[in-house]
Amino acid sequence: MRAVRVGVIGGTGFESPAFLADARDEVVRTPYGLARAAVGRAAGFEVAFLLRHGPGHRLPPHRVNYRANVWALRELGVRRVLATAAVGALRREPGLAPGSIVLCDQFLDFTRNRPTTFFDGDPGPVRHVDMTRPYCPELRRAMREAAEALGLPVRDGGTYVCTEGPRFESAAEIRAFALLGGDVVGMTGLPEAALARELGLCYQPVALVANWAAGVGDGAVSEEEVAAALAGMRERVAALVQAALGRLAPEPACACGEAAGLG
Ligand code: HPA
Repeated sequence: MRAVRVGVIGGTGFESPAFLADARDEVVRTPYGLARAAVGRAAGFEVAFLLRHGPGHRLPPHRVNYRANVWALRELGVRRVLATAAVGALRREPGLAPGSIVLCDQFLDFTRNRPTTFFDGDPGPVRHVDMTRPYCPELRRAMREAAEALGLPVRDGGTYVCTEGPRFESAAEIRAFALLGGDVVGMTGLPEAALARELGLCYQPVALVANWAAGVGDGAVSEEEVAAALAGMRERVAALVQAALGRLAPEPACACGEAAGLG
């Protein structure tokens, strides 16, 4: 068994630990509350699989306990995190069509009412982590190579826009996000990515395109449409995550730890 654990955060539509062998439940007590994860094996790694929205999908995006989730993964020995995230597509492009997978490399954060940091000061330290390259190039490469090997198209690179939710966006908001350089929009990628960086964890979102965003497609955005698209992607995503794990070197050799000030 390799030493470094990998974390997988399952977002909406990717909520089964069935890709893990010998999974057992772990409850982790954190300074921010309890978090649960299934810990098992996949592709030679020990993997901790954590449901972002909690068991039974009870927490909406703005109430997810991101700090407890990320802290718990670190506590479980996780150094690298793959995180699925349902998104809408901001532009009508083939690589962004519903059913596509986007390996984002940047984000725009439009959340406004969530605890965003472990570095709250008083009495903790005041720290500012580098976010120039917010996501892990090694995890992204492993995902891209896995997709190529499996013959599954993925879009390599893209900007993830995070909104507060839980409502979907207005058509004008979506037009504005596209003008700003966004490619996909979701509600959960932040502060998760920033918190992972603050703890020195590598992090890569796996954006699952469920719909054309508001005003991009023909009609309204519906929860049913989103759920159906995600259900159609579930097996592909599980295969991809598993294959990507198989392509990871045992220890990270990227600059993510340095960006966190741990280098
Ligand atoms: N907007 C925000 N979050 C989403 C969307 C969307 O269109 N689709 C899936 N998650």
